[in-house]
Amino acid sequence: MTSDTMSPRPRIVLDCDPGLDDAIAILTAAHFGELVGITTVNGNVGIEHTTHNALATAQIAGLDVPVHRGAARPLIAPTMDAARIHGATGLGDVTLPGLTRSVDSEDAVAFLCDTARSVDDLHLVAVGPLTNVALALRHDPDLRSRLGGLTIMGGGAHAGNVTPVAEFNVWADPEAAAIVFREAAPITMVGLDVTHKVLLGGDEAARMRSAGTPAADFAAGLLDYAYDRCREYGLDAAPVHDATAIIAVTHPHLFRSSSHPVAVELHGEHTRGMTVTDVRPAAAIAAAPAPPAHDVVWDADAQAVIDLIVEAVVNS
Ligand code: RIB
Ligand code: CA
Repeated sequence: MTSDTMSPRPRIVLDCDPGLDDAIAILTAAHFGELVGITTVNGNVGIEHTTHNALATAQIAGLDVPVHRGAARPLIAPTMDAARIHGATGLGDVTLPGLTRSVDSEDAVAFLCDTARSVDDLHLVAVGPLTNVALALRHDPDLRSRLGGLTIMGGGAHAGNVTPVAEFNVWADPEAAAIVFREAAPITMVGLDVTHKVLLGGDEAARMRSAGTPAADFAAGLLDYAYDRCREYGLDAAPVHDATAIIAVTHPHLFRSSSHPVAVELHGEHTRGMTVTDVRPAAAIAAAPAPPAHDVVWDADAQAVIDLIVEAVVNS
């Protein structure tokens, strides 16, 4: 039995801000899932770049998948980026082909809401700031009930990357994240607690390159760039956060999670953007009104996840 026959191919809409790891997540979702559509959001870099990068990734991999452009800035927070990690254009120093196609629409919110109504058991996987998802909830308050699953790469119960306690996707638009955590439970939160345990480096880039395909060479170039940035910070491998979130949807048996109330901090001088996760015993939580509970992912069979990400790239 091959790995991609181990579970049914979930129907996925990927909301993303490509982004080095977002691009690898596109390849991973297309290989192990049925990638119904891609929506783009401002995040790692501006919306023009994230949208261009999503189109370029689909083109390089020969994917016939609709791409819909989304929000150009956060709901309230100032527009920040992660270009110092992802490069000025968002895909490091990888050379991209000239685009042969454009977006299918400039209304990601309408696509998200319409597709949730028309596609059964749809898994929305959001791996960038949650601006589009929050706007979709405002447009259709019943959105969550129409989805088979809502998984985000974001947050962290006991970890941060932009600050000691805040992860970039939540930190970049905390008001949007607060809406989504409050109004779209249950979320499967694939946060830094687990993504910091799934680390790829030079060996994985070499395994990718062995495929000798344009998509594999592209992904290996992205990984090399991410790996180089991580080494500047004293790390000897790179987390591929967003692709890990995709594997959490397609191969959930490889992950360990538990249900906890989670709320997004908006006002703390030092804690804005923190996903405040209540890990106290249920009786203690029940003693007072608690935020909605979500499935917090803690651990994974890291090597199995790594091998699946490499497998997806090699077969893209
Ligand atoms: O904190 C990691 C997340 O922020 C990933 O989704 C990465 O692409 C960036 O958007
Ligand atoms: Ca991302």
